[in-house]
Amino acid sequence: MDARLVTLLLLAAAASAPLASPQLDSAFYKTTCPDAEKVIFDVVQNRFKQDPGTAAGLLRLVFHDCFANGCDASILIDPLSNQASEKEAGPNISVRGYDVIEEIKTELEKKCPGVVSCADIVAASARDAVKLTGGPAYEVPMGRRDSLTSNREDADALPGPDIAVPKLIDEFSKQGFSLEEMIAMLAGGHSIGICRCFFIETDAAPIDPEYRKNISAACDGKDSGTVPMDSVSPNVFDGTYFALALAKKMPLTIDRLVGMDPKTEPVLKAMEAKPADFVPLFAKSMEKLSVLKVLTGKDGEIRKTCSEFNNPQASSDTSVIRISSLNPDQMGLSQPGAAKPAVAEARKVAPGGEEEATKRIRNAVKLTKTFVNEAAAKVEGGVVVNKAAQIQTPKPNV
Ligand code: HEM
Ligand SMILES: *[C@@H]1O[C@H](CO)[C@@H](O)[C@H](O)[C@H]1NC(C)=O
Ligand SMILES: *[C@@H]1O[C@H](CO)[C@@H](O)[C@H](O)[C@H]1NC(C)=O
Repeated sequence: MDARLVTLLLLAAAASAPLASPQLDSAFYKTTCPDAEKVIFDVVQNRFKQDPGTAAGLLRLVFHDCFANGCDASILIDPLSNQASEKEAGPNISVRGYDVIEEIKTELEKKCPGVVSCADIVAASARDAVKLTGGPAYEVPMGRRDSLTSNREDADALPGPDIAVPKLIDEFSKQGFSLEEMIAMLAGGHSIGICRCFFIETDAAPIDPEYRKNISAACDGKDSGTVPMDSVSPNVFDGTYFALALAKKMPLTIDRLVGMDPKTEPVLKAMEAKPADFVPLFAKSMEKLSVLKVLTGKDGEIRKTCSEFNNPQASSDTSVIRISSLNPDQMGLSQPGAAKPAVAEARKVAPGGEEEATKRIRNAVKLTKTFVNEAAAKVEGGVVVNKAAQIQTPKPNV
């Protein structure tokens, strides 16, 4: 082989070699903000006491933040932060837990301004949430930095609730998770929290008739209604998932499908038979999830407010629309509720020139419209944002 080619290949290999959680450290804030993790835990615990659903919101948040484009708090960027009316809707159109993150951030900014990243808050608060629901403790080293960009198209890459099982396995495998790790995370994640009726498709996969009747009672004519993910122990982290998924007594299609698929069914059965093995596997998988593609060192920034970039105008990265600074007025969006004109017009014109820029703006308009016009439930579901193909028409009767 040509020597230059070998060198090139070696360089390419070095560039793409994954660094195992570079520069993350469990003592990261020891000198700069020694109480950081205590502050995080205290807020999570307080909110959990008021509403145990807080834990589910935070657990789901870390999955959504980390899985698509890395644990960098990009999920927290408010696409419409220039508009008061839409900002109000923030907590509602997002995954639950958003406001808990902001509360923690506010506390931390009082104690040690500009030090603790939103990405670390997302990862640590999910760990605390798991603990509070009775789940295992796991290690979450600190030192993540917050993204300078938020690309909704990455978030769209998250699997939807009716994804086929082989595709699901594939998506998790691409992120470095084994089949067992995937099932452990799904089982732990969906052993707490709620599922909006909007996401329930009773016809897409077999369902237990009595269970179907039960959820019909809760969901009839109410897309915004909710049912517990785990109807046996809704707020407790445990292994009930296996029996429920195998018996087709789960609201989400995906959970009933993994209970039947020839690849996943045996895994569920094995885990059901040895629940003691599932818990540490869940913990290990969460450790992996919490360090996926993190930004460290001088990359990214430490946001002052988790829902906004520090400086929406400054960026050397021309490849991504700065969603937080989009100006819907200038994009031909007229919204009845949009009282204030947007302030900053900070989108970047791409090096690709006018055409590229126009395309990006069109995408951005599309996603802004999605946020404004489509059912909040769709957006709240997160996993299906903007993915028309995966969004099921709500069924009048479940
Ligand atoms: C790719 C597989 C997954 C899909 C398709 C999926 C989909 C969903 C959907 C549609 C909901 C209902 C949301 C709502 O009604 O607002 C939900 C809830 C939830 N998911 Fe998943 N999920 C997946 C994997 C996971 C993983 C790996 C975790 C965590 C480790 C997780 C944790 C949760 C939690 C805790 C909730 C309840 C949220 C709440 O109560 O607010 N999910 N998921
Ligand atoms: C969110 O929705 C609930 C129920 O629809 C409503 O009561 C609440 O005021 C909304 N919150 C915000 C901040 O818009
Ligand atoms: C249906 O609801 C009833 C009453 O809450 C409960 O006893 C029963 O176990 C539920 N059945 C299923 C299959 O979830």
